[in-house]
Amino acid sequence: MNTPSLLILAGDGIGQEVMAEVKRIIDWFGEKRDITFDVSEDPVGGAAYDAHGTPLHDDTMAKAQEVDAVLLGAVGGPKYDDLDFSVKPERGLLRLRKEMDLFANLRPAQCFDALADFSSLKKDVVAGLDIMIVRELTSGSYFGEPRGIFEEDGQRVGINTQRYTEAEIDRVARSAFELARRRNNKVCSMDKANVMESGILWREVVTAVHQADYADVKLSHMYADNGAMQLVRDPKQFDVILTDNLFGDILSDCAAMLTGSLGMLPSASLGAPMENGHPKAMYEPVHGSAPDIMGQGKANPCACILSLAMALRYSFDQGEEADRLERAVESVLANGVRTGDLMQADGGTPVSTSEMGDAILEQLETSL
Ligand code: IPM
Ligand code: MG
Repeated sequence: MNTPSLLILAGDGIGQEVMAEVKRIIDWFGEKRDITFDVSEDPVGGAAYDAHGTPLHDDTMAKAQEVDAVLLGAVGGPKYDDLDFSVKPERGLLRLRKEMDLFANLRPAQCFDALADFSSLKKDVVAGLDIMIVRELTSGSYFGEPRGIFEEDGQRVGINTQRYTEAEIDRVARSAFELARRRNNKVCSMDKANVMESGILWREVVTAVHQADYADVKLSHMYADNGAMQLVRDPKQFDVILTDNLFGDILSDCAAMLTGSLGMLPSASLGAPMENGHPKAMYEPVHGSAPDIMGQGKANPCACILSLAMALRYSFDQGEEADRLERAVESVLANGVRTGDLMQADGGTPVSTSEMGDAILEQLETSL
């Protein structure tokens, strides 16, 4: 079998720092578990703009299409705020998602026991929380046409279009139902069918896919605004939440914060199966480039490290090693090891980004 390939795009801000810890973990798996990857690295976002004048070089795009998985850090930063919209760092990320056709974005929101006190919600509301948001990632108002800023009757008008085809809804609904079967068998689909035709179609197609092929899964529907409220009121009522691109962007930040810190949450963006049977895939932390703390060793590398665990599970058939890595992170937290985002009044040990990496590597060693 060929050595599986991994393209690392560390990007901007703390992307570089957290990815440095991920690379140490990758090396550990090579040395201690004989799991090796053919790793290549390219800039993306602002870093790619600095190097090539574009947030994503065509060569990098081509490589991303070829590899077994892409691992991305973060993009963006104030340095790039005044750039033309078409070359902003975010455009690089959106191009990867669109051209790789990564339509199913899996965003777990899991509350680690050791962190239940950090949530802004009461501990009993979030302790043991384990939900998964499946966000449609390649369509909807992020990409719909027409879009732009136009002149109309002597003033400018900004236009974006919420647009979904039946096929787009169908395929992401299937991803959510499949995932639910491996979890607690419940899907709640969130839309705005009370105001938007795209929401009416969304609900119809999700219901039809359910009736045709997934009747064993429990399906409910909710308006997305109520969904936001329910996430904060009683998040443990959910298992898998299925929603569109824009609602998913907002609801996933909300769900993330329930868990105490954005610094803990990984994500997987999956497309259609490749020849080897695995989906085309990109893995990235949910957090951004956090320019306010970049370069200071303050960033929490856990979200990016847990994104590697998702890659092991979904792209490389290494479910047991993914479990091993997730357990190592959990033990480190249980031992009170805390980066700045987690430092609150629980008397834990404050550590830097690389010390967090050290602690996780130590736990991996112990696991052997
Ligand atoms: C996310 C981010 C992106 C999005 C930005 C960086 C383009 O907020 O992944 O949630 O809006 O999708
Ligand atoms: Mg977002």
